[in-house]
Amino acid sequence: MAKTAARGGRSKAATSGSGRKRPTARVAAKAANSAVAGTSAPELETIFDYVRHAADRLQRAHVIFAHGTTDPVAEAAFLVGEAMQLHPDEVEPQATLRVPKAAGRRILAWIEQRIATRKPAAYLVNRMYMRGLPFYVDERVIVPRSFIGEILDSHFGGDDVLCLRDPATLTRVLDLCTGSGCLAILAARAFPNATVDATDLSADALAVAARNVREHGLDDRIQLAQGDLFAAVRGRRYDLIISNPPYVDAEGMAGLPRECLVEPRMAFDGGTEGIDLVRRIIDRAETHLAPGGGLLCEVGRCKPAIEKAYPRADLLWLDTEESEGEVFWIDAAGLDGLSA
Ligand SMILES: C[S@@+](CC[C@H](N)C(=O)[O-])C[C@H]1O[C@@H](n2cnc3c(N)ncnc32)[C@H](O)[C@@H]1O
Repeated sequence: MAKTAARGGRSKAATSGSGRKRPTARVAAKAANSAVAGTSAPELETIFDYVRHAADRLQRAHVIFAHGTTDPVAEAAFLVGEAMQLHPDEVEPQATLRVPKAAGRRILAWIEQRIATRKPAAYLVNRMYMRGLPFYVDERVIVPRSFIGEILDSHFGGDDVLCLRDPATLTRVLDLCTGSGCLAILAARAFPNATVDATDLSADALAVAARNVREHGLDDRIQLAQGDLFAAVRGRRYDLIISNPPYVDAEGMAGLPRECLVEPRMAFDGGTEGIDLVRRIIDRAETHLAPGGGLLCEVGRCKPAIEKAYPRADLLWLDTEESEGEVFWIDAAGLDGLSA
């Protein structure tokens, strides 16, 4: 029987590229008003001016926001922050800071590139933030935006009644389909006593992951391996398996926005119903879980297809600030006999 659990209820509050509650909320509100009202040849001096101008340009160009920022103001603030070498959380507090000419030119160039090429902003600046942490990204990996990052923070430890496991007790974690390595890195930080295996079929993605693991100083705790799902970790068992696998169905693949077409196709394509890889993960996970372990898996809008494929599965659907029913948890006991 399927269950749904939302921690603290579903909030409409947007998050910034940092993945935290949007730091630019007040800047955003003012900028959005100005952007909607329209501005003509504005004098651009401060961070606030540039955010307002950039948001206005992005909004008028109808670019799609699907890569860690959810609206024109958040994306504008992200780009301005990058040009100013400010963490996204610092953009709002520094809104009145003057933008040097060189940084101003960089911002304007990025905005025009973003509009002309439709490339995600993260590729233009080679960076994206998740849960406040920076990750190097380029076209070899999908831009990090998984909801699992938030769940690692919200559902492990603390006084949450929906605590899935005490973080201190986890010693072996597997991140399947690691891409940039973002979830493996967040897991290594969330579970201080754990070593993390992180696998991907793409050698290109693993090269990016290796760079991120090194930059976060986690070479001694995260092991990267190339292989088809569990092939690279035969015989190993884990306390926790996390995965954000490809899960876009055929209809979704046919309708991917231009912004997503520059990302690796193999990061999206989940087969006709979207669940080709998810099925293989569910079917094999039990043989890789230690007693008491569990699988945390993101599936996008495939919940109905999964519930149809596994009507007896005791799936716990976990909501996040921006998602509902897109990530499930199932423990090792619940997986027992499911693959039949
Ligand atoms: C949606 S992306 C997730 C990347 C990263 N975990 C994240 O959340 O940003 C899916 C990843 O699965 C990888 N992948 C696709 N097919 C795979 C397979 N059969 N075995 C292992 N990895 C695969 C892709 O290369 C891609 O990096």
